[in-house]
Amino acid sequence: MKHTIYYKKLGKIIISQKRIQRKIKDLAREISDHYSESEVVLICNLKGSFRFLSDLSSYLTIPTIMDFVAFSSYDGVKSEGKIRIVKDLKIDISGRHVLIIEDIIDTGITVDYLIKYLEDFKKPKDIQVCVLLDKPSKRKVVVPIHFKGFEIEDIFVVGYGLDYKEYFRELNDIRVYNE
Ligand code: IMP
Ligand code: MG
Repeated sequence: MKHTIYYKKLGKIIISQKRIQRKIKDLAREISDHYSESEVVLICNLKGSFRFLSDLSSYLTIPTIMDFVAFSSYDGVKSEGKIRIVKDLKIDISGRHVLIIEDIIDTGITVDYLIKYLEDFKKPKDIQVCVLLDKPSKRKVVVPIHFKGFEIEDIFVVGYGLDYKEYFRELNDIRVYNE
């Protein structure tokens, strides 16, 4: 066990590495079928989604281009409801299929903001959303989720890219974090 107080509050595994990987392979098949031969731009909202993007893209059988944005609404465990653009896209996505890759959707505010931002300023052909974890109980805005991994209850989780104060992204399983 690592020597920081945060690691003592780490709870049980709710989704194992094996289940995550199995689900991601299924999602990749679904996405590849959906876009058939067309090219898609995968947009990853940093930092929580970097592992999901990495594994998911490795199983896709369609041509892909990747770019990263950083919008944030979280500090610690509570949603602030405020969004900041921390890093913008580098590539031109106008007229292209865009697939947003998200680690988790909680209130929905971050993804809603990202979709509106891309539609208003970047003019893609279409935008779909792929999310690994959906926490529907705290939803404040309706977001269209086209590809979904797991639905979870209202608990704070870490691991597989998801953090608590920047810790735990390295874990291969998704675990409960006990505040
Ligand atoms: P939303 O705007 O409330 O949907 O929040 C989405 C963002 O909050 C995600 O991209 C995560 O970074 C963060 N988040 C929400 N719930 C959790 C959680 O249980 N663990 C870690 N991060 C979370
Ligand atoms: Mg995050």
